[in-house]
Amino acid sequence: MSLINIKIEGIPYQVEAGLTILEAARQCGYDIPSLCTFNHGQCSQGSCRVCLVEATGARGLVASCVYPVAEGMEIRISSPKAVKARRTSVELILSNHNKNCQQCAKNGNCELLNVAQLTGARENAFEGAKTPTTYDEVTPSIIRDTSKCILCGRCVARCQEAHGNGILGFENRGFSTIVAPAGNRSFADSPCLLCGQCVSVCPTGALMEKSEIYKIDEAMAAGKHVIVQTAPAVRASLGEEFGMKVGTPVTGKMAAALRRLGFDKVYDTNFGADLTIMEEANELLARIKNGGILPMITSCSPGWVNYAEYYYGDCIDHLSSCKSPHEMEGAILKSYYAEKNGIDPKDIFVVSIMPCTAKKYEKDRPALTTNGLKDVDAVLTTRELGNLIKRSGINFAKLPDEDFDQDLVGTYTGAGVIFGVTGGVMEAALRTAYFALEGKEYGPINFTEVRGFEGIKEATFVLAGQEIKIAVAHGMKNAKPIMDDIRAGKSPYTFIEIMCCPGGCINGGGQSYIRPSLLKNEDIDILDTYMDKRAAALYSEDERQTLRQSHNNPQIQQLYSEYLGEPNSHKAHELLHTTYVSDRVRFK
Ligand code: SF4
Ligand code: SF4
Ligand code: SF4
Ligand code: FES
Repeated sequence: MSLINIKIEGIPYQVEAGLTILEAARQCGYDIPSLCTFNHGQCSQGSCRVCLVEATGARGLVASCVYPVAEGMEIRISSPKAVKARRTSVELILSNHNKNCQQCAKNGNCELLNVAQLTGARENAFEGAKTPTTYDEVTPSIIRDTSKCILCGRCVARCQEAHGNGILGFENRGFSTIVAPAGNRSFADSPCLLCGQCVSVCPTGALMEKSEIYKIDEAMAAGKHVIVQTAPAVRASLGEEFGMKVGTPVTGKMAAALRRLGFDKVYDTNFGADLTIMEEANELLARIKNGGILPMITSCSPGWVNYAEYYYGDCIDHLSSCKSPHEMEGAILKSYYAEKNGIDPKDIFVVSIMPCTAKKYEKDRPALTTNGLKDVDAVLTTRELGNLIKRSGINFAKLPDEDFDQDLVGTYTGAGVIFGVTGGVMEAALRTAYFALEGKEYGPINFTEVRGFEGIKEATFVLAGQEIKIAVAHGMKNAKPIMDDIRAGKSPYTFIEIMCCPGGCINGGGQSYIRPSLLKNEDIDILDTYMDKRAAALYSEDERQTLRQSHNNPQIQQLYSEYLGEPNSHKAHELLHTTYVSDRVRFK
C-alpha cells in the first residue's frame, strides 16, 4: 500500500494512493454528501453532482466519488464555491422530483431528503416542467414510480452486478430520460426476477416493495385465525430497523414483538426449512438411486426459480420439486395444524415475514395452493415488519426475549437457521443426506467447504462409498455458467444450491437498508462487512441449538409418523411439492 500526501481544508493527511477523494476524505474524518455512489464507488455513475468539491490539479469542481486523490492535492470541501455547488445540484434534482414526502414510504430512510438537509437545499429553487411519470404497480412485489427517480443508476448497476442480465436501463434521452425495463415495460412484462436487489439500493422512493400490511389489518378485523412465521434471515437484520448494530441477532425480541402485534400464533419458518430438508434430501437420494435427473438443484429461492423459468425452461426438471420452506409451513398450517386444532382452513390466515420481495409474488403462484387455498396469504419484508412494530408503539429494544410458540410446528434445528445464507441449504441437506446414507451423524456437523461468499463454491464428498460433487452459487451471474453446462450436458455435479441474491437471503431485497449516506463515519466500514455480520448471526444461532440436523427435529418426526407417512410419500407430495413452468417466455 503506497501512501500519498494530500491536504483537506489546509490540514495535511497521508492516505492510500488510488482512493477517490470521497473515500480518502472519509478516512480523514470528513463526510462529503453523496447520492449516486453506493459502496466505495460501487454503482457510482458520477452523475448526481451532490459530492462536488474543489481540488487542485482539477479544472473547477470535481465529483469526489469518482475523482482520484493525487500527490500534493489540496481539497476544499467547505469553500463557499463547493458548498453552493452541492446545494445547487440537490436543488436541481428536487426541481424534477415529486415532493410528496409525507405520503412517501421512504420517508425516514430517504437519502435525497438527507442530502437536502445537509446541503441546505430549498425545495422550490428551480420550478418548471417535469418529466412525464410512469407508475408501475402491476407485480405483487415492486412499485416503480419514476416521479421520485433521481437517475442515479444505482439500481441499474446492482441488477447488472448481481445477475449479469441488466433488466433496468436508461430509456429515452435528455429531459425524457427514465430508468425502466426495456421499452418502459412493466416489471410484469419483463424477465425481472422480482428479487428487489434494485429496491435495496435505491436512495429514494422510486423503487419500493408493495406493502401488504393492510392485509393483516383486514384479516385481524375479520376475526381470522392469523398465524405469523418468520424466515431465518429476518432475525439477522430486523434489529437494524431499530438502530441496532448490523448482525445483532434479535430472535427473542422478534418473537415477543410479533406476539404483541396480536398474531394468534407466532412460529418460525425454520420448522418449514427442516421439513424442506427432509423432502429435498430424500428426493436427491431417490434421484441418485433410481437414475433420476441430475444434478438436482434447490428450489427455495423464488428469484432463482423465476430465472430458471425465464432463461432455462428446457432444464426445469433439474429443479427439486420441493416448495420453499414458508410455503411448506403454510400448507402444513392449513392441513395438519387446522385438523389438530379443529379450525376450518378457510379461517386461517398465514403471514410470512421474509427478507425477500420475490416471495410476495411466489405466494400468488397458482401451484402453491392446498385444497384450493393459498398456502400463504400475505408476505411482509423485514422492513415492513419494522414499520409495523413502530406503528404499534412497541419499544423493540426493551422487549424481553421470548420463544416462538412451541406446539405442533414450533421446534426447529440449527440446520433450519442457516437456510438464510448462501451455502446454508446445501449444508443442511448434507447433514441429513449423510445420516440417511451412512446411518450415523456427520462428526464435525459443519460442512465448512460450502460457507463464505465466493461466487461459486465447489466440493466433493464421499457418501456411502459414492463420490458426490456439489456446487453452490448466489447471484444469477454465477448461476449462468452452471446452467449453461447443464444445458450442454456436461455438468459434473450431483447437487447444486442456487440462491438469487448475492450472499443469499441475508442480503435479500427486503432486508433493512444499508444506507451509505446515512451511516456515520465510524460505521462506514460496515459496507464491507455487513453480509459477514448477518451470516455470523445465523451461524451462531445454529451453534447454540441442541439439535442441529433436520431429521432430529422431534415435531418433524411426529408430523411424519402421525400425518405424512414418510418423506416423498403421496401425501407429502400433495402438500409439500410443486410444479414449474417450462415455457414461460424464454430469454437465451
Ligand atoms: S428486481 Fe432484481 S431482477 Fe428485477 S430489476 Fe430489480 S434487481 Fe433486476
Ligand atoms: S430508481 Fe432509484 S436507484 Fe434507480 S436510478 Fe432511480 S433513484 Fe436511482
Ligand atoms: S435469495 Fe432469498 S431473498 Fe433473494 S430472492 Fe431468493 S429467497 Fe428471496
Ligand atoms: S456524483 Fe458523486 S455521489 Fe453522485
